[in-house]
Amino acid sequence: MGSVRWAFPCAAWRPRREEWLLAARLVQPEEKDRIGQFVFARDAKAALAGRLLIRKLIAEKLHIPWNEICLQRTSKGKPFLANNMSSTCSNYNFNVSHQGDYAVLAAEPELQVGIDIMKTSLPGSSSIPNFFRIMKRQFTEAEWGVIKSMNNEWMQLDMFYRHWALKESFLKAIGVGIGFNLQRIEFNVSPLQLEIGKVYQETKLLLDGDEEEWTFEETRLDDNHHVAVALGKQEEYRQNHSHVYSMESNQPRFMLLTFEDLVAFGIPITPEDSAYWDNFCSKQEGPTKQSSHSR
Ligand SMILES: CC(C)(COP(=O)(O)OP(=O)(O)OC[C@H]1O[C@@H](n2cnc3c(N)ncnc32)[C@H](O)[C@@H]1OP(=O)(O)O)[C@@H](O)C(=O)NCCC(=O)NCCS
Repeated sequence: MGSVRWAFPCAAWRPRREEWLLAARLVQPEEKDRIGQFVFARDAKAALAGRLLIRKLIAEKLHIPWNEICLQRTSKGKPFLANNMSSTCSNYNFNVSHQGDYAVLAAEPELQVGIDIMKTSLPGSSSIPNFFRIMKRQFTEAEWGVIKSMNNEWMQLDMFYRHWALKESFLKAIGVGIGFNLQRIEFNVSPLQLEIGKVYQETKLLLDGDEEEWTFEETRLDDNHHVAVALGKQEEYRQNHSHVYSMESNQPRFMLLTFEDLVAFGIPITPEDSAYWDNFCSKQEGPTKQSSHSR
């Protein structure tokens, strides 16, 4: 059981009726209801893909039949597996993120994990300098120094979203929601330019000014999507399994999945609900007057 990194291009997914109805039958009823309430189709697709990614992971890697998987959320909303697990799988950790054109998942057999994907896009209603002024408190002086050192406004925005993904990946690994003082977390990013498809692990985290032993895996999935995966320290595990750790930390790349991959292990949980398709068809893809748009 090794590291898993999966990406599903949910924005490009134009579900057919039978696909949407099958997908809806494959998630727990409370999640199906939650997803049905989204105003925009793009958000419903992304959230549904996120749930299918988690269930596929558990069915495929932990060999729990799909319809027996019981997912719950912490009080801060982080999904976890509630089934009783053998001690060998008890540290199995996963997290998903969906933003822009993808839903992504990272999973680790032992390490704490958090993932965040961010699409670089222009702020809809203000200029980039004004947007940065509004966001001032999200980053430290040193981080702003790096963001603003980039050559042009687009590159500054791209560096802003790279930092954003890094911060969120850490917050998601530790499972806290809104309310964490972001000034306590500072990233020292390296290298400044990331090539598409390559995995980097050089960026360092300072927490309250001290360098932390967390690893941050950064991948630029395409021209405008940054993914950050935060991997927590597990000292005991690393000492006892140093050979395994060095193999498993071998910079896993994202595997792009199709809808067929997502549902391959699926066993329906709820009966078919044709009204769920009508509800989906009534949704607009996204806001007409985009609040943000791509370059
Ligand atoms: C959920 C939260 C933790 C991340 O949200 P987000 O970045 O908008 O959304 P993402 O797409 O990356 O992740 C959403 C998924 O993360 C998971 N998730 C939800 N709450 C979580 C939590 N507390 N911790 C970890 N993962 C969580 C869920 O699977 C969720 O998918 P779902 O909503 O379909 O169930 C957000 O509520 C939050 O509080 N973020 C911190 C806010 C902040 O200050 N950010 C500034 C960074 S510079």
